Amino acid sequence: MTDTAARVREYAAHSFHTWSRQKGWKAPLLVNDAEGIYFYDHTGKAYIDFSSQLMCSNLGHKNPVVIEAIVRQAEKLPYIVPSFANEATIAAVEALRTVMPQGLDRFFFSTSGTEANEAAVKMVRQACAPAYKVISRYKSYHGSTAASISLTGDPRRWYAEQARFTVPGVCFAPDSYCYRCPFALTYPQCGVQCARYLDYMIREEGNVAALIVEPVVGTNGRLIPPPEYYPMLRAICDAHGVMLIADEVMSGWFRTGTAFAMEHWGVVPDLITTAKGASGAYTPVAVTAASGKLAEFFEEEVFCHGHTYAFHPLAAAAVPAAIGELKKLMASGQPQRVSAHLKRQLYDLAERHLSVGDVRGIGHFFALELVKNRKTREPFDVKADKFSQTKALMTGRVAADAMQRGVYISPWYDTLVIAPPLIITEAQVDEALAVLESSLAIADREAVDTGTPVSRSTEYAKDR
Ligand SMILES: Cc1ncc(COP(=O)(O)O)c(C=O)c1O
Repeated sequence: MTDTAARVREYAAHSFHTWSRQKGWKAPLLVNDAEGIYFYDHTGKAYIDFSSQLMCSNLGHKNPVVIEAIVRQAEKLPYIVPSFANEATIAAVEALRTVMPQGLDRFFFSTSGTEANEAAVKMVRQACAPAYKVISRYKSYHGSTAASISLTGDPRRWYAEQARFTVPGVCFAPDSYCYRCPFALTYPQCGVQCARYLDYMIREEGNVAALIVEPVVGTNGRLIPPPEYYPMLRAICDAHGVMLIADEVMSGWFRTGTAFAMEHWGVVPDLITTAKGASGAYTPVAVTAASGKLAEFFEEEVFCHGHTYAFHPLAAAAVPAAIGELKKLMASGQPQRVSAHLKRQLYDLAERHLSVGDVRGIGHFFALELVKNRKTREPFDVKADKFSQTKALMTGRVAADAMQRGVYISPWYDTLVIAPPLIITEAQVDEALAVLESSLAIADREAVDTGTPVSRSTEYAKDR
């Protein structure tokens, strides 16, 4: 065994791997370098980053402008207590104000998406007391810490519940998931029942302070609701005095083509929580953005929240640089062109693979939902299989094969996450999709041919 391999094994033996049984993590891939849309292992093998790591490296790797901003800040003032102002946080707030929707102009800075949501929950519960309940949705992930994991609908919450780690006062609403509608209805005849049900839920529950949504659901499906959904939710929240929180941790920062995904529906939430692409993942930074109503409330009330690393200058230094780079990139028109190409190519690819039940998405944010049978929509794996000890998930098998062939694709239990950095070119998309084409053969072999075409469940305007 080489020294390097031994050190990697020692490292694994002495660290907790996230979201996993530790016995399965003995020899993680050693990554030594990354540039553009590629990262490189210690042998020099290149991998196309087709999921932007954890859907966060929106600018790709080694962006020189962001790196320079961080280096300059490290040399000047890497840390100062949050109660002082500093040039880095001043510039970050100035930059945020150029992209946030009008009215969302009071910010709290932390270092992770989960913290951004913790702060949001605390703010709304304080401001809306005695109402305290937060409605979330089953197809969601909001973070790992107590309040955020309580808001999470995906199976990671089950473990937090077993550990008695969740907070009370969270209810789950049915998802806006047209491929598997929880009401067994079809748009548009459904009348967007998934939105209307929220009105019923808020009235019957009582004491509801807020509704939290991922405007385009991230890990749990790249779900895009019908056009009426968010305007209806906004109206329902307004009618009941309930705050609308948009968790844009993953869907923000031009991932879906606009700075924040909620812009697609012209809806302004009361709070936006975000992280990931806010720095292009160059520094750990997260933001809770609040409306004037909340800002006003805390003029007189104590905002009883903080961290040693709140408003961390080094973390904040990446924000204006990343925002500048993202704006420049979007102004070039390349991401829009490549997104259209990616969508066309993915739609075509999905046709050719029996195991793809549904293809959906927007911007640089797509899902291939794998099924055994397109007609019955029988899945290969379900939520309860996510942490199975006996079963290798089909999505995981396909992703592992693609990785062997040099393309990194993040798998969830039912979908593959196609979310490349926004700098990717058409030729690079084609290169990655050629690999995916081969890897999907693994799933195709276990799918049945029913002659049913692939579904494109989020093409609301065109296909219906
Ligand atoms: C929508 C959403 N919210 C919150 C989080 C939590 O962010 P973090 O991992 O930075 O705590 C994530 C992470 O993937 C996310 O996708």
